Amino acid sequence: MSQDNLDQGYAARPSDFYEQHAAVYDSDINRKFYERIAWALAAKVGDSQELKTLLVVGAGTGFATAILHRRYPLAKITALEPSGAMAARGRIFVPHAQWIERPLNDFECQHARLVFASMSYHWLTAAERSKLMEAAADGVLALAVAVTDRPEGSDEAEMPAKATDGNRALRRLAYRLRPSGSWSRADRRARAVTDKLEDSFREVTREYVTFDEMFDSGQELIDTLNNRGSLLALFSSRRAQARRELARTIDPEGPAAFRWRVALIVGRS
Ligand SMILES: C[S@@+](CC[C@H](N)C(=O)[O-])C[C@H]1O[C@@H](n2cnc3c(N)ncnc32)[C@H](O)[C@@H]1O
Repeated sequence: MSQDNLDQGYAARPSDFYEQHAAVYDSDINRKFYERIAWALAAKVGDSQELKTLLVVGAGTGFATAILHRRYPLAKITALEPSGAMAARGRIFVPHAQWIERPLNDFECQHARLVFASMSYHWLTAAERSKLMEAAADGVLALAVAVTDRPEGSDEAEMPAKATDGNRALRRLAYRLRPSGSWSRADRRARAVTDKLEDSFREVTREYVTFDEMFDSGQELIDTLNNRGSLLALFSSRRAQARRELARTIDPEGPAAFRWRVALIVGRS
């Protein structure tokens, strides 16, 4: 299916969006991106003999789930993914895990020693977030969340001068279009997400990491933001408009750079 055809179908639920985009989502560039984040988050969790039951929430096509299987080879892994097309790919990629095609809302949760939600927390409703914490009540909750805040006083490297700064283009667009998607301003702040965990867990740690991505063309950056679901999460039904407007501010032919700031948040009961 062409990118234009994909854009025309407006997806009401996030899982419908991923259902339509599973093939373009399941790419090498996305695998590298989600694997890097999952490795970093798993490193914060650490190794423990106790981690025998794992629940992966919003498992997608299995990038993070595969990392968890490598890291905890003896653990029983349940991978929860509401889109059938995404889960079908995940089942092939990580057959060891038990794949369940449901949103967290419709899943009868058992307690797990590790509950892992990498780049999926922003899709969950308030009720699902409570369920996520409850599922980790006897263990560890690990979240990787894309955020816009950063530690006070931190210095960051400059973006490459010869590439269009994708963050700046997205920030300007967000200012004009007023994000109306499920990815609220609070959810894009690591401190706000951490506060929510503090009532439920004995110890909560938070660390910020940055991942820079370079794209040969601005068009590739825009397509990637779209295929990952980022534009849907930010702009909801105005996603197609957001894509068109980004193509006006980011040179579609020239190189582009994007910096992801990700908070790794771990709660221990
Ligand atoms: C960006 S992908 C996740 C990537 C995956 N965690 C990884 O790191 O490989 C987000 C996933 O969350 C799923 N999702 C959306 N709403 C959900 C819900 N209510 N419950 C569980 N998963 C959900 C989507 O279908 C999508 O596959």
